[in-house]
Amino acid sequence: MSGENHVKKTAVFLALILGLTGMCSRASASPKVAKIGFALSMTGAAAAYGETQKNGSRLAIDEINARAGQEGIKITPVFEDDASQPQQGVNVFNRLLFADKVVIIIGPTLSNTAQVADRIAQGAGAPVLGISNTAKGITDIGDYIFRDSLTEMQVIPNTIRVVEKRFGIKKVALLYGNDDAFTKGGYDAFKKALGDSHIQILTEQSFAKGDRDFSAQLTEIRSLQPDALVVSALVEEASGIVSQARQLGIPASVPIIGGNGFNSPSLIKNAGKASENVIVGAAWNESSSNPLNQGFVRAYTAKFGAPPDQFAAQAYAAVYIVLDALKRAGSTDNRKALREALTRVGGLDTVLGKFSFTKGRDADYAPVVETVKDGAFTVFGQ
Ligand code: ALA
Repeated sequence: MSGENHVKKTAVFLALILGLTGMCSRASASPKVAKIGFALSMTGAAAAYGETQKNGSRLAIDEINARAGQEGIKITPVFEDDASQPQQGVNVFNRLLFADKVVIIIGPTLSNTAQVADRIAQGAGAPVLGISNTAKGITDIGDYIFRDSLTEMQVIPNTIRVVEKRFGIKKVALLYGNDDAFTKGGYDAFKKALGDSHIQILTEQSFAKGDRDFSAQLTEIRSLQPDALVVSALVEEASGIVSQARQLGIPASVPIIGGNGFNSPSLIKNAGKASENVIVGAAWNESSSNPLNQGFVRAYTAKFGAPPDQFAAQAYAAVYIVLDALKRAGSTDNRKALREALTRVGGLDTVLGKFSFTKGRDADYAPVVETVKDGAFTVFGQ
């Protein structure tokens, strides 16, 4: 071998080794860690939602972390219980933002909590992604507040339209929780949608969180013989109302129509047969043929032994929405950059469908109407 050839071959060999070393170090470079805070209601009035929200989040995180080498991002979650209470939400937000120093908070479960806790994140310049807040005004708190949950105002007009078309209802009774941002917001949305459809409201009855006996309100409602009973309630109270309405003789031919709070399998578990044919406006349904959704339903059911609900789906989607933004933010701990990147999420494939935020940082996708059939939520119309 000539001296020149030897030098050439050595150079090629060295280049190959250097190239391979570079590739190896890129493949094994440790993924960047994103610390994400979760403020979810694991106890209290909204615990039924918090449980499936935690499951949905956990599934997405496990999937992402299992392929962190490819994503370049690993998620370290910090889960906190907001106890369905505004004050506990504030405590949890303070801990997540100032002690754990998370880059974003996903949650809190209730609008009632978001109304106060989100202000702390806005003041600290940290993004929040709500996954179940459906009351109006939550994202108006400030430009760091986002949500992937549809508001009552986005869902309920469609619910009333579909029901009106199917049943031709002319007069209804309205029953709502008067001490909660979401249940009051749902009441406003129902009232407006009923008015727009020229449906008469025979009576407006109310209750408070924690009430168990609705017989006074339901007896009054029964005496007025409405075509439908329209209810804005969290799931605990919704379950009692649905059971007692049928026990007190409001016939099954009078449909019960609910808002976002009804979207939990615990309604079906608690109210049993009385929940059959309940009609609910929803932001997601299990049977969507979207392949991403089908994969999610299979993986969730295998992991947790029961199918997901809307709350799980919105939580699962939220983790992927944050991942998408983190990749574009160029950093996993820059809250401002993450906020900017969130505003640019557009047409992202999620289990909720193609996902974008509106200019006001609310969610932008189509609602659906569901009904309970043989103990499961099924699509009623769109
Ligand atoms: N949708 C309910 C709320 O906003 C859970 O509080």
